[in-house]
Amino acid sequence: MKNGRRRWLHRFVALGAVALLGGVATVVISSFHPRHPHSWNPEEVALIKSLSLTGMAAPEPDPSNRVAEDLRAVELGRKLFFDERLSANGEISCATCHDPERGFTDGRTVGKGLAEGHRNTPTLVGAGFSRWLFWDGRRDTLWAQALDPLEDPDEQGTTRTRIAQLMASSYRSHYEPLFGELPDLSDTGRFPPDAGPRGDAEAISAWESMAPTDRDAVTEVAVNAAKAIAAFEAQIVPGTTRLDQYADALGSSAEGVGPPGILTELEAEGLRIFIGQGACTDCHSGPLLTNGDFHSIGLPPIPGERFDVGRIDGAPEVAAAEFGCSSEHGDVEPSRCEDIRFLKTSGFELVGAFKVPSLRNVARTAPYMHRGQLATLDDVVAHYDDPPEAIIGHTDLLPLELSGREAAALAAFLGVLDAQPQGLEIAAHSAASTDRVTR
Ligand code: HEC
Ligand code: HEC
Repeated sequence: MKNGRRRWLHRFVALGAVALLGGVATVVISSFHPRHPHSWNPEEVALIKSLSLTGMAAPEPDPSNRVAEDLRAVELGRKLFFDERLSANGEISCATCHDPERGFTDGRTVGKGLAEGHRNTPTLVGAGFSRWLFWDGRRDTLWAQALDPLEDPDEQGTTRTRIAQLMASSYRSHYEPLFGELPDLSDTGRFPPDAGPRGDAEAISAWESMAPTDRDAVTEVAVNAAKAIAAFEAQIVPGTTRLDQYADALGSSAEGVGPPGILTELEAEGLRIFIGQGACTDCHSGPLLTNGDFHSIGLPPIPGERFDVGRIDGAPEVAAAEFGCSSEHGDVEPSRCEDIRFLKTSGFELVGAFKVPSLRNVARTAPYMHRGQLATLDDVVAHYDDPPEAIIGHTDLLPLELSGREAAALAAFLGVLDAQPQGLEIAAHSAASTDRVTR
């Protein structure tokens, strides 16, 4: 009996030791053996699925734009987007800088119209989903944004009366069914050919000499043209990428094993860093890979240039803008413009903060960042790996300490986010068929 019990005890101890050793061995082996690149735990599966376009609703139609969903407006907007006559020298259209063949960007460090600008040209793919427009978010609707490049002396540099006259001379049959009768602009005493609040001194004084009701009539035509452009832009939505295919296939596999043949092992390793160690999804989250917010990632200023403070200037500007959701030109009760109502206009964290860009199609939109500071995706990864101290303001980034292989994997993963934007077939036609009663 005694012996029996002891033997039992021995066996128990021996079994325990084996189990313990086994456990230790598993831990040791697994810590030397990284997980299979295509195997994901349930939390990771959920995070990867949250990045997929599948199931994402179309952009909410802009309530402040009454023609946002009107296909006739989309068609008019498409023509205006490509129309170089909407510029002071007749050579610059929206597409000059937002070239559909380059992911709706221009491949330049900073945009160049009539003169060189100060910021990098962002893509328009998915712009219809953006709560704020511009790197500093100084506009809150696509139509309010579109009037800026048209009137900006460094970009298209046209004037408000010239926009209205082009509608009357070349787009009447498109414009009037949508917006009603155009004002009679034929009296050049009342409606000087080049008058507007943002032109050169001559254009401004011509504008100021106009009767207020005439100015209002011209402004309304320009705003309507911008609303048509906005209706077109909202059609430019991202196409399905390999990430979406991978996420969708993963979503339906119970074991959390990624399907073969969609991502390479290196790309899958990059995805693991993107959602894990890299913390990229802290800001580049959801199907558009942006949280739509403003952050500072401490990009160094360009020597000799004024430091671009970003959102701290953009937030007060959007609140005071002539055009926007809650302005008199918005087709909605101002109380429904909630983003503006709850706008935050001050705070240290806004200094040097810029809009988190979507990473869809990022492989075709180099160079990167608000000033085009970083030339390649490898440069971007190097910035995140070892972020500099912010010279003004702060940085939201912590060092990542990636190995060479990990850095390469992350850059390779960013290449997975590429697809032909879906609005392209619409964009591909140029402004061939206007009413062409040319000026
Ligand atoms: C000279 C080049 C140029 C032209 C012409 C131009 N843009 Fe842009 N666009 C830019 C640059 C640069 C920015 C970023 C400026 C900033 O953030 O301050 C921008 C920003 C935008 C944005 C904001 C995107 C976002 O995600 O915040 C939209 C929308 C846009 N442009 C549409 C248009 C439309 C519509 C036209 C024609 C009416 C146009 N652009 C003409 C260079 C240009
Ligand atoms: C704290 C928020 C935040 C985190 C975390 C973050 N980003 Fe960004 N990302 C931004 C902001 C803000 C910008 C634009 C910064 C600017 O221009 O000043 C940006 C820009 C980029 C761009 C350039 C896109 C373009 O069109 O110019 C890429 C690429 C990018 N991020 C990739 C990543 C990757 C990869 C990670 C993870 C290692 C990451 N980001 C983590 C906020 C973040």
